Amino acid sequence: MRKTLVAANWKMFKTPAESTAFLTSFYPLIKSNATTEVILFPSMTSLPALVDAARGKSVEVGSQCMHWLDEGAYTGETSPTMLTAIGATHVLIGHSERRRYFNETDARVNLKLKAALAHGLTPIVCIGEHSEERERNLTANVLKLQLSVALEGIERSALGPLVIAYEPVWAIGSGHNATPAVAEDAHEIIRDHLVSEAGPEIAATTRILYGGSVKPDNIAEITRMENIDGALVGGASLDPVCFSQIIANVTPHPGV
Ligand code: PGA
Repeated sequence: MRKTLVAANWKMFKTPAESTAFLTSFYPLIKSNATTEVILFPSMTSLPALVDAARGKSVEVGSQCMHWLDEGAYTGETSPTMLTAIGATHVLIGHSERRRYFNETDARVNLKLKAALAHGLTPIVCIGEHSEERERNLTANVLKLQLSVALEGIERSALGPLVIAYEPVWAIGSGHNATPAVAEDAHEIIRDHLVSEAGPEIAATTRILYGGSVKPDNIAEITRMENIDGALVGGASLDPVCFSQIIANVTPHPGV
């Protein structure tokens, strides 16, 4: 069965001192929760300090982005080798803000996913439609295309660690989350498409997170849905008490 997973995407917020102070307040609030896996994605400069502070705790730490090559003349970039060297375990790939502002195309998502899997970094691949695409009934097409290109040329046997985040772009930072029914619909499309792209076993075990205006008061009903296995949380993950309430309110799948 799929263990629920809740991840914090801190975007361009928090210095190293603020990041470790968060963990100091946050960890006592969640450490007795054994049903939900927790991952923090701080900014690049906070990564080393937060990885160190999280050592021995049931919290994992990952990077919000990376290049796909091991090294090279790419000013400003960070490679998968550099991330694993400091102990990061996860990486976000294809977040809509990366797609929109930093040219993270489906083809690059594919290269980054291959690199993450090759380096033992657990990838969270973000996909999702824009509001105009939803209005034009293109949601299923967009999700399937993003997923197909992301998985191109990757052996099914390598896809065990894959996590997907469904993040409708119109719900990110807007205060308007997708209703549980709308989100579940999209998650079902994604899981069905995974069956054809990666086979029924990978489709059954891959966790699909929902992201977009998740809050302590909507997480329970969102995670009650059969195909929603957790959440990727932006704004509401910046405060330790608020984020711990989200984790406490998750509805785990039966039998986990
Ligand atoms: P939000 O962001 O929770 O602030 O809507 C989610 C995300 O960007 O992953």
